[in-house]
Amino acid sequence: MFTDVYSNLKIKKDALILAIESSCDETAAAIVKGGREILSNEIMSSCSEHVKFGGVVPEIASRAHTTAVSVVTDRALKTAGVSLDDVDAIAVTYGAGLLGALLVGVSYAKSLAFAKELPLVPVSHIRGHIAACYLNNPLIEPPFISLLASGGHTAVICVKSYTEFDIIGQTLDDAVGEAFDKVARVLGLEYPGGPNVERLAATGQNTIELPKMFKGDKNNFNFTYSGLKTAVINYKHTCEQRGEACNDADLACSFQCAAIDVLVEKTITAARRMNIKTITAGGGVAANGYLRARLEQECLSRKIKLFLPPKKLCTDNAAMIGAEGYIQYMQGNFAGLDLNAQASVPMC
Ligand code: KG4
Ligand code: ZN
Repeated sequence: MFTDVYSNLKIKKDALILAIESSCDETAAAIVKGGREILSNEIMSSCSEHVKFGGVVPEIASRAHTTAVSVVTDRALKTAGVSLDDVDAIAVTYGAGLLGALLVGVSYAKSLAFAKELPLVPVSHIRGHIAACYLNNPLIEPPFISLLASGGHTAVICVKSYTEFDIIGQTLDDAVGEAFDKVARVLGLEYPGGPNVERLAATGQNTIELPKMFKGDKNNFNFTYSGLKTAVINYKHTCEQRGEACNDADLACSFQCAAIDVLVEKTITAARRMNIKTITAGGGVAANGYLRARLEQECLSRKIKLFLPPKKLCTDNAAMIGAEGYIQYMQGNFAGLDLNAQASVPMC
């Protein structure tokens, strides 16, 4: 019986976790030791197959995961210099994400756990993004304020302990990454949009008036991105209809400032209001150079400690699933072989 795995289980402080992530177009596997030390972090992406469609095609992503998942897992073990016999638990993203894509990782993790009689740890992708800040970073401990900014989620979260969270504010409509991707499309930039908008923005000026959303509203920690996205689309279309040249670089830069400044403002205000002296960020948009620079400036001038994960730990990866998987492992939060994928899971 697989459940026997849990009856004599000894929890190890320096446990080696094999983590598997397949929620979107990245197939990833990592070996993480003691929740903080990355021994390997391997990624294969089907991104290039989605470019001509302007966004991730779920069926293509799922098929790519089926061929990539064993390859990245073998690589992760090899790079870490360990075998499955050395691994103490298998952590896998079970949600949120594309259902078919998640199912590939979950099924693969279940089969490994069954074959090697290893504990199976279910991990929320959202919590994984928050936990990325712990990796290779012995100094950071809760409480801290985490800015979560990805393609699916946008929130300011108070991380009270490793397992307790308060959502201070969140988006009421689109996620910030989604807005970057949609703006990229209207500017004729390839998927994935975020990094391409950032590159174009670097060549422009913040000269175009766009909606301020909830910026300056000190008692509102929520975000809204749908109006900003529509304003950018309308601006571009109005230029085209009038036969006027549109300065795409200025539009990208103005959009980036509007989208990011409000994130920075609310994150800093939350930390000050709650008297919390540490801020972190996670999710793909936390790889944005302008966001990182603005947070650095603001935290420096207010004597707030800022821990930003390296860019490759902000975008989707398996090491962050290993970091959160370790927390769940230490809590004894294990799954049976009936673990299922879930397209959406609670934010925290
Ligand atoms: O966390 P992530 O890799 O996947 C999700 O969980 O959603 O985030 C992907 C999102 C995409 O919307 C992508 O355009 C955005 O993060 N992104 C960026 C940058 N890099 C990735 N947005 C702005 N600037 C970037 N450099
Ligand atoms: Zn993600």
